[in-house]
Amino acid sequence: MEKNPAPQFACSQQILETARRNVSKTTWDYINGAAGSETTLRRNRYAIDSYAFLPRVLRDVSKVDARTTLLGHECRLPLALAPMGSMHLMHKDGATASGKAAGDFGVPHILSSVARHSPSDVAAANKGFKIYQLYIRGGMDWIKPKLDEAKKAGFQTLVMTVDAANYGIRDRQLINEFARPSADIVGENRDFQAAMTWEGMAEVKRYWGGPMILKGIATAADARLAVEHGIDVVYISNHGGRELDHGRGTMDMLPEIVQAVAGKAEIWIDGCFVRGTDVVKALCLGAKAVGIARLQAWSIAAGGGAAMHQTLLNLEEEIRNCMGLIGATSLSELNPEYLTRVTPMGPWHEHSSYRHLGPHWQEGLR
Ligand SMILES: Cc1cc2nc3c(=O)[nH]c(=O)nc-3n(C[C@H](O)[C@H](O)[C@H](O)COP(=O)(O)O)c2cc1C
Repeated sequence: MEKNPAPQFACSQQILETARRNVSKTTWDYINGAAGSETTLRRNRYAIDSYAFLPRVLRDVSKVDARTTLLGHECRLPLALAPMGSMHLMHKDGATASGKAAGDFGVPHILSSVARHSPSDVAAANKGFKIYQLYIRGGMDWIKPKLDEAKKAGFQTLVMTVDAANYGIRDRQLINEFARPSADIVGENRDFQAAMTWEGMAEVKRYWGGPMILKGIATAADARLAVEHGIDVVYISNHGGRELDHGRGTMDMLPEIVQAVAGKAEIWIDGCFVRGTDVVKALCLGAKAVGIARLQAWSIAAGGGAAMHQTLLNLEEEIRNCMGLIGATSLSELNPEYLTRVTPMGPWHEHSSYRHLGPHWQEGLR
């Protein structure tokens, strides 16, 4: 396994601390914050922490393989770098740095349609699996050229994000008078996002013509509809709690959605996954891949593509370590029998996985 003999960031807590020093308070609150009371955000963490492992022993785990195939692409880990529109606030190279790190490492990168770096620049930097995420900011006359541009740049798969009919009401942003990075993009109208329907989505899918992912599915009923519409990946997400407050944690949605999808699509998930153990839990319950968003932003803010690469190495070590310790040598062996429900250890917030931060971190970021 690739090792960095003297990594600048031996664990993601060091990434977090450096990122916080490198960006303004306003940007920091923008990355980390969520809608309203931030209950959805906290439930994401709570739901992951509500499972403990049931490890099996005396199995030969001297060789552990954490590679997988996502939509037919060989991937080094069951991860995807989730779409983030404002990576230019973290680092001048923004989404280009994420795309390059993902491609060099061997996991997919999802480029947000509201990123400041162009699809062609990000695609040129990413030699691997390129996915394009679309927010709807116009009718088909606006959508078609966006999709043409992405296709021409080399993006093979489309994500349509469907959990943001309205922009979340985020107290931290309001208190800081934060100007939304994507609010000033000329000629873009959010009303089209609010008006999107299953029929509209099907029209976009027909025009795209390639594999398609729906990001932001949160119920078994919508997962069933997605499958009926021929969707390739049901991506379970609540947008990190940034849109609807008082939603469920994504890990609590996973079992019923796995049942509803019944193997007819891949299931990806995100929402507070920051450690290898978090990822293995989701895979035990039936997810095929886990999306990494805030940890990606912290990494890029801490040290651009090099720090992102280090984060992926750290996650690889953590995933393989966890698999060995529970007695699994390949991802296909993971199943719900490795998990049991427990009362989680509090507190639960976006940084509560990091036990060694100072006391001022422990209740979020005030
Ligand atoms: C700063 C920021 C920007 C985001 N931008 C987008 C975006 O452009 N498109 C999208 O589909 N999701 C976007 N998301 C949501 C993430 O892709 C992801 O669903 C969510 O943050 C949950 O993952 P996490 O808990 O790992 O952060 C954004 C999230 C953050 C924190």
